[in-house]
Amino acid sequence: MTQLTQSVRLEFDDDVALIRIDNPPVNALSQHVRQGLLDGVTQAESSDAKSIVVICDGRTFIAGADITEFSGPPQPPDLQSVQDAMENCSKPIIAAVHGTALGGGLEVALCAHYRVGVAGSKYGLPEVKLGLLPGAGGTQRLPRITGAAKALEMMTSGEPIDAQEAFQCGLIDELVEDLENGAVAFARRAVTEQMPLLRIRDRNDKVANTPESLFHDFRTSIARRTRGFLAPEYNIRCIEAAVELDFEAGLKREQELFRDLMKGTQSKAQQYYFFAERAALKIPGLPKDTPTVEVSRCGVLGAGTMGGGIAMNFANSGIPVTIVERDDEALQRGLGVVRSNYERTAARGGISSDDVETRMGLISGSTDMGDFADCDLIIEAVFENMALKKEIFEQLDGICKDGAVLASNTSALDINEIASATSRPDAVIGMHFFSPANVMKMLEVVRGDATSNTAIATAMGIGRSIGKTPVLCGVCHGFVGNRMLFMRGIEAEKMILEGAPPSRIDQILFDFGFPMGPFAMSDLAGLDIGWDAATSSGSTVRELLCESGRRGQKNGSGYYNYDPKTRAATPDSEVEEMIQAFAERQGIVRREITDQEILERCLYPMVNEGAKILDEGIAIRGSDVDVVWINGYGWPMYTGGPMFWADTIGLQEVAERIQHYASTLGGDHWEISPLIQNQVSDGGSLSTYAN
Ligand code: 3HC
Ligand code: NAI
Repeated sequence: MTQLTQSVRLEFDDDVALIRIDNPPVNALSQHVRQGLLDGVTQAESSDAKSIVVICDGRTFIAGADITEFSGPPQPPDLQSVQDAMENCSKPIIAAVHGTALGGGLEVALCAHYRVGVAGSKYGLPEVKLGLLPGAGGTQRLPRITGAAKALEMMTSGEPIDAQEAFQCGLIDELVEDLENGAVAFARRAVTEQMPLLRIRDRNDKVANTPESLFHDFRTSIARRTRGFLAPEYNIRCIEAAVELDFEAGLKREQELFRDLMKGTQSKAQQYYFFAERAALKIPGLPKDTPTVEVSRCGVLGAGTMGGGIAMNFANSGIPVTIVERDDEALQRGLGVVRSNYERTAARGGISSDDVETRMGLISGSTDMGDFADCDLIIEAVFENMALKKEIFEQLDGICKDGAVLASNTSALDINEIASATSRPDAVIGMHFFSPANVMKMLEVVRGDATSNTAIATAMGIGRSIGKTPVLCGVCHGFVGNRMLFMRGIEAEKMILEGAPPSRIDQILFDFGFPMGPFAMSDLAGLDIGWDAATSSGSTVRELLCESGRRGQKNGSGYYNYDPKTRAATPDSEVEEMIQAFAERQGIVRREITDQEILERCLYPMVNEGAKILDEGIAIRGSDVDVVWINGYGWPMYTGGPMFWADTIGLQEVAERIQHYASTLGGDHWEISPLIQNQVSDGGSLSTYAN
């Protein structure tokens, strides 16, 4: 055995050389891995070995380039020289894959002459998720093996395929039971059977007959999902090059486009996001071995909009749920909505009809809170009313077993006050799901003053298990996400009175990259949330709309009118007249507002509030704020989230604009955050700030 570099060693199993990579946690292609691979191939080629296996220790095959190296200068050897050495080696090289062969990892495997994999192994080019494209020949090699259509799908989604599919499409040559023995046996056979030293670059059969319409049709099919992102289009262009150009010219095109993406802010934002999402799981002061409550049964109180969706998350993960409503009618209505959601998914082919029954079978309904007695985690999702929530938590305290975690899905209320209604405030925590709760990934976990580490670790852990992106924050009105949203709402409301129609504000935010603007969002949520006809006094546009029967999408009209069939929104002159008349009564002078002002007045108060949230220690780090906004409200990921976006603009400029609006418009929300001022004077940033 020869230790080639700190992470790569060369071993021999009789006549087979094994280049073994051990670079935890994911065997990324760090400089010493590239060097080791290059040395390994060179030394194995000049040794007595007849064939070579590239294999990894640990949990996975190479999972890609080392993303942490992207910010520094390139370190030799580059990946291409490693790949050239492999492809041109005079002895057969077999890549032995377990875990995930991703990005540069798959691109290395594609330069072996053959590939074998174990069941459960996965193969993908996820660079698009980092705002990039596979920059080591993957864009030219993958289509040559899978055909352009499959490559388009894999490279624009970034999603891996499994071993079975990889075998079927020829990406791997054999499925083996035991990785090392199987790979070594294949390597010996390659020699005895004199298998050719196949180079994917020389193959053109799979791309030769690509239909001309493929690219146009594919672009149309992903347009909505990829709006605003550069990388999917760049990946498509590379596959076009693989079809239209020879290998070397295609490679050159790949390199040009890769460099373009790498230089841009989108890839920086998306790489930042990759680490941000992982950082959010690390809680200072919460040891990794903190005991958690095993959630064998979950209780959900309230089967309304949120309760039903929350229950679905658990049933989808195979965890039984007890859902309790105040009466049978509400319970049956709630369960009916859950069933029809599942049936809709099944009709679209997302799950089978057996899955529908299995999942419904995991949800048991009741009108007796006593049925929560055997639940390990109970999530309350009743109306947003403090008195009601306190009453309920007092009851839960009397019913739930010792050690159970008691969570509230409140969107804004004080978790400490809710906890005070119990004799076990340490067990009480906020678990704020976002609507629709079965779809949205965001989960704000809200710790109260007394919340125990066990409750925090349980909420974060179960959040991950049910496929959410949990972010921990502290107590304040609206927590991280809604508190910032309220600030945007204040300015958006003011601007419609000052002269910008709701549809224009919505359009500007849509163009910025949000799935919808504030008014379309209010219509979707329902304008009458929190509205009471008895106390309504026409004091806001929203109240006026509700009073005139406009409740949002659900009854066909709100800020917009909705087509009953397509749900397409059209602005209504009646609403505009209502707004104008209201502004006149308030003595507001209407004027022309520029697009730039609209954008700044919507987004800068959010940045300012995000900084205040950080300053108060409510969020642990700037990147947590970005994770909340990207996952919870569709802030465009390619800008990195509000904190990263503000850093990209320059905090000095952001501070100046906030101060400008503070002096011209006034209001607490424009009072500049001390953190922004400090970071400006220290040359610091918001996205890297951590408490
Ligand atoms: N580079 C550097 N660090 C990486 C990394 C990478 N490519 N991939 C993962 N890590 C780190 C993570 O940050 C994390 O660090 P932490 O423990 O300090 O937080 C640790 O490895 C473990 O990662 P996960 O928590 O994500 O572990 P999982 O087991 O959940 O997932 C994985 C493993 C599926 C490999 C997942 O980490 C992943 O998807 N990684 C990224 C894969 C990728 O994007 N590869 C392409 C890179 S770009 C490229 O190759 C360009 C090329 O074309 C030239
Ligand atoms: P909803 O009105 O759709 O559902 C509430 C349900 O609770 C109703 O079905 C009601 O019958 C039931 N309920 C009321 N009192 C009860 C009691 N004593 N016992 C059992 N069931 C009772 O409300 P929604 O929208 O689901 O909101 C629930 C909670 O989730 C609120 O705290 C809200 O702020 C929060 N939330 C709402 C979001 C949304 O977009 N709708 C998003 C995130 C959080």
